Amino acid sequence: MNAAKTDFNDRLLSLGLARVAEQAALASASLVGRGDEKAADQAAVNAMREQLNMLDIAGVVVIGEGERDEAPMLYIGEEVGTGNGPGVDIALDPLEGTTLTAKDMPNALTVIAMGPRGSMLHAPDVYMDKLAIGPGYEAGVVNLDMSPKERVNALAKARGCSASDITVCILERPRHEAMIAEVRQTGASIRLITDGDVAGVMHCAESEVTGIDMYMGQGGAPEGVLAAAALKCMGGQIFGRLLFRNDDERGRAAKAGITDLDRVYSRDEMVTSDVIFAATGVTGGSLLPRIKREPGWVETTTLLMRSKTGSVRRMSYRTPTWPHDNV
Ligand code: FBP
Repeated sequence: MNAAKTDFNDRLLSLGLARVAEQAALASASLVGRGDEKAADQAAVNAMREQLNMLDIAGVVVIGEGERDEAPMLYIGEEVGTGNGPGVDIALDPLEGTTLTAKDMPNALTVIAMGPRGSMLHAPDVYMDKLAIGPGYEAGVVNLDMSPKERVNALAKARGCSASDITVCILERPRHEAMIAEVRQTGASIRLITDGDVAGVMHCAESEVTGIDMYMGQGGAPEGVLAAAALKCMGGQIFGRLLFRNDDERGRAAKAGITDLDRVYSRDEMVTSDVIFAATGVTGGSLLPRIKREPGWVETTTLLMRSKTGSVRRMSYRTPTWPHDNV
């Protein structure tokens, strides 16, 4: 990959990206715990789009709110930014965990990644079978073709611990019942989550803080690409295979230019060059604290990362709520 192609002014743009994630979180702050997923999501979408359009980029949304006919804003293919700046691809989820937000449950995030044109897999809105671990392991120490039991045992062996020392994060869904039972048989512990598998995967990259060593199971494919972008910055491995339930879903893949429907994508095949990534905590978790609201002030924390340097910043942002008289 040549240097010119991978340079998209990422160092300077990263601060703008943090602002985009922050503003989406701030917009949904007053909707945390109010039982209205749609309103929380819409507020985040509006704010993210407005902020993106202030950035000096010629951006195209490649992972967004859906196809053009389904989503009026931040749809796949929408052009964003002022148009004066580098051509970039953008993957986003203005509110990852709409139900988590509505119910005030942990780990709802606003998420956005940016890279040069052609840097991220145009994953259709289908499911993806995912497997992720954190950094420090030999490439391919676990893979999607292994059974859940083999994955746990291989990771335990690589870590030099017993299977009972491993914690696996899995979305709690009926489709995962057999997987959960098999993982339990190994003696490993399972952190069940109700939503939010971007955060689930990211937890693997900071296992000493989060207590999670491995993520596995089926979730959204767009979220898989966002998680791959996060791990490209934080370190770690992720593998994903798209899953198709019907012809409509296979048609979505064809539209996205995907011909090999059984392909297993590695992290660097989902995200092929350096990216920047920002996520702001909406509800709190072990990766990021929740939005804090106090009379007159609101505060967010944003994870801002660049894969080129491996830098991981946690930035807190405190701003007065309006009207504001500065006293
Ligand atoms: P939201 O769209 O409500 O934010 O939900 C996100 C999510 O939990 C993802 O993190 C996950 O990949 C996907 O939904 C799982 O899909 P499903 O709920 O259909 O199992």
